[in-house]
Amino acid sequence: MSIIVNEKELFFTLRTANSEYQIKADKFGVLKHIWYGEITGRDMDYLLHRPDVGFSGSIYEADNRRAYSLDTMPLEYPCGGVGDFRVPAICVTHSDGSTALDLRFKEYCIKSGKYAIPQLPAVYSEKSEAQTLEITLRDTASETEVVLRYGVLEDKDIITRSAEIRNFGEKEIFIKKAASLCLELPQGKWEWIHFHGRHAMERQTERTPIIHGIQESSSLRGTSSHQQNPSFIICSPDCGENHGECYGAFFVYSGSFKTQIEYDQLKQTRAVMGINPDIFGWSLKGGENFFTPEAVMTYSGAGFSPLSQNFHRVIRENICRGKYKLTERPVLINNWEATYFDFDGDKILRIAEEAAKLGVDMLVLDDGWFGKRNDDCSGLGDWFVNEEKLKGSLGVLVEKIKKLGLKFGIWFEPEMISEDSDLYRAHPDWAIAIPGRKPTRARYQLVLDMSRKDVRDYLYDSIGKILKSADISYVKWDANRSICDWYSAELSPERQCELPHRYVLGLYELLERLTSDFPNVLFEGCSGGGGRFDAGMLYYYPQIWCSDDTDAYERTKIQYGTSFIYPISAVGSHISVVPNHQTGRITPIESRAVTAMAGSFGYELDLGSLSDEEKGLVSQQIKSFKKYGPLIHNGKYYRLSNPMTENSALWEFVSEDKSEALIQGMIFRKIPNMKRISVKAEGLSPDSFYRIEGSDELYTGKALMCGGILLDDMWGDYRAVEIHLIKNNADN
Ligand code: DGJ
Repeated sequence: MSIIVNEKELFFTLRTANSEYQIKADKFGVLKHIWYGEITGRDMDYLLHRPDVGFSGSIYEADNRRAYSLDTMPLEYPCGGVGDFRVPAICVTHSDGSTALDLRFKEYCIKSGKYAIPQLPAVYSEKSEAQTLEITLRDTASETEVVLRYGVLEDKDIITRSAEIRNFGEKEIFIKKAASLCLELPQGKWEWIHFHGRHAMERQTERTPIIHGIQESSSLRGTSSHQQNPSFIICSPDCGENHGECYGAFFVYSGSFKTQIEYDQLKQTRAVMGINPDIFGWSLKGGENFFTPEAVMTYSGAGFSPLSQNFHRVIRENICRGKYKLTERPVLINNWEATYFDFDGDKILRIAEEAAKLGVDMLVLDDGWFGKRNDDCSGLGDWFVNEEKLKGSLGVLVEKIKKLGLKFGIWFEPEMISEDSDLYRAHPDWAIAIPGRKPTRARYQLVLDMSRKDVRDYLYDSIGKILKSADISYVKWDANRSICDWYSAELSPERQCELPHRYVLGLYELLERLTSDFPNVLFEGCSGGGGRFDAGMLYYYPQIWCSDDTDAYERTKIQYGTSFIYPISAVGSHISVVPNHQTGRITPIESRAVTAMAGSFGYELDLGSLSDEEKGLVSQQIKSFKKYGPLIHNGKYYRLSNPMTENSALWEFVSEDKSEALIQGMIFRKIPNMKRISVKAEGLSPDSFYRIEGSDELYTGKALMCGGILLDDMWGDYRAVEIHLIKNNADN
């Protein structure tokens, strides 16, 4: 039983394998957060006594008991306007213009299985794997109710949260803010890690102390963004990869979000995460309800490794869907960096021929195959094949590629429209723009209004037609700009503020239709690289192009940050040419290979331009990925060094049964006359014997974990590391 209720006390305990979350409705019906952390063996509400803090008010029924204050106690879903002056989870405006909401306990129920959220992606599970707790709160003065839903995946150490706001009154209410998660940490001093960046430099880690006031990370860009990721970690100052306490949360949402971390007057920490209220508003008529997207949390008392492993597992098994979620992904070659827009059918065939010889599984035709699109100024929206450029129909090209033994994949950027396109000439009102204002252009393009059904139907039909016209096994779904100038011709003035969220709902609806109608197609997300790398997208496609930066050195940092939350199988990662197109850096092909293998692996270059020796290495790399791929995608992932601060990026995959492990990575700079570098393994069976593939010498797991493995002396910069550890057969 993962949900335990003390009926009399209205005390709720959500128990997972290694954590406990406690909630209590007090005698006034206020829903308090009691505890999240280690399983302590008792109710932790003894920690809740608060002093009278000057200027912190009390609820009316508390009869002036000044120590009873919403402003000082940890709350499950804090409301604006009734005496808690910290960051609220929900803010509404009633029809009389007042803005208070005073939610009190009404009822609860427990359901087996994990709740779903209408129109939104969410964690799903077998009935037996999860339980749901629903707590209904009701406003003291209006007919507004909020249902808090908690999903508990006990074995996976995962707790999910989402809220439903219901208006039972006759008059409309206006939701100004509806967060998905409020995490209260009333004890302790904490640091937080968030993932910031920019195009071609996504998910850089930043770890800072939580200081008094409010710190936030957010996106206003209509997408989850390159600049901040909808996820965070709060950790104890001593927390490392395998020790210390940490809490993680990610948002299952692909639009604008906001995470706020407040450290209050009593040195209590509150984290609130949800749709970004700065560009959100929602009118709720009588009888209507609104569902927030889901937030997913985990706790680890043993450092970041278990936290990441919990997240990797739940994302792979309970968020990703479809045929490819747990199966091996094809090794692909993408023509983008090989040709950009400068290709024709013959050039693509030549790339395919070379790739086939070396063992690649699939050719992906990137941007430029459709409409009038020979640069990025035109053509988006015209999803019909440019047969002149391809020198024939898509079907014929695909058949030729298939004859070489390769599958075929294709690029789309469905949400965008070029002004120089037939689609724009026919439907200028389909582009998001405010009447009377010139819209902002980005990469010369505008954005389609995905809240409109006619727009989505057009996209469904035109993409569907292409997918049916040839044997297409893969789709890369790109989106190359942020969204602004929010306005939809279909929404009334009061509802324009709903457009950013309606856009995301529309996108999800289209993705649901396409992915369920084309179940054999592997979809890969992309947004100018990793500008929409979030769990909402991973519900529809199991992998996302991680970054437009294919420089192996930079990639180690991008993939390091990404790995805290997202599984390795979700990371689209390719080997490209040197000098690298984003940085001009030259790295050895072996290092590019180990970096790209820590993901869903492929190539993005003209293989024909490689030397014979390099071609030999490519075919060897593909064999390696076929050999190690299952361990890389299914194994437990460990970060062995921090590339942001150290001279190396090293990581490890350990099989579930600990019978093998693969350490990979790169030493960045050669330093003269150094003693040999040693790398400590993680996650092995301590008393078992292991050997390094290629040698017969035996080491105990403990030796490899405590003493480490001595790396060969390396010559030159950016040298690859690859060590395969195999448990000795005689040992069990
Ligand atoms: C941005 C993507 O990240 C690239 O890989 C490529 O597909 C281009 N868009 C094409 O325009």
